[in-house]
Amino acid sequence: MDESNQIKVTRRDVLVIGTASVVGPLLPMGSAGAKESKSMNDTQQTSDESSSMYPVTFRVNRISRTLDIDTRTSLLDALREHLKLTGTKKGCDHGQCGACTVLVNGVRINACLSLAVMHGGDDVTTIEGLGTPETLHPMQAAFIKHDGYQCGYCTPGQICSAVAVLNEIKAGVPSHVTADLTEAPEATNLEIRERMSGNICRCGAYSNIAEAIKDVTGSHA
Ligand code: FES
Ligand code: FES
Repeated sequence: MDESNQIKVTRRDVLVIGTASVVGPLLPMGSAGAKESKSMNDTQQTSDESSSMYPVTFRVNRISRTLDIDTRTSLLDALREHLKLTGTKKGCDHGQCGACTVLVNGVRINACLSLAVMHGGDDVTTIEGLGTPETLHPMQAAFIKHDGYQCGYCTPGQICSAVAVLNEIKAGVPSHVTADLTEAPEATNLEIRERMSGNICRCGAYSNIAEAIKDVTGSHA
């Protein structure tokens, strides 16, 4: 072969100019095919993405909201990324810390473990919907009064969980500690800690959190 017709590329050329711009022109066959195949992949991906979108309408903090959302989106991401309600926090994102706790129809759930599209017609309450800076929810006021937080990252989840605990106690829902609330209707320290055990606080504000909750339940046990 006539060497004058060959393109000479040194290792230094590749490093300086970049692999794609050098190698591309040296691929007489297959490069167009590769491009076409890439474009087909892009079309396939776009089609996959659009087919996984789904509309969902729910009430969030008493306001009706409709989202056209990827079916794989968690309720947590829908609240934070789509509705910009960033009071609900993402800690572990897999159900271990409770930072993402919100109320759905009055019941507490980990929003990171639930898909947004499953909540059509539901009533979702986040920390933003419990009270306002001017009119705090009694649980929010109690957390402030008893210093129930340090960094505050777990606090929205702790407060939403605590509000649900009050509802559970009022409704007589038993816990592992107190099977029959008719015998001990007041929330003891042990009872509260058991019911709040799904909410982790890395700052260790547990004692003050329990004090805040006991203040709202009216228990001094
Ligand atoms: Fe949901 Fe940790 S972020 S449980
Ligand atoms: Fe910091 Fe609970 S106050 S994690």
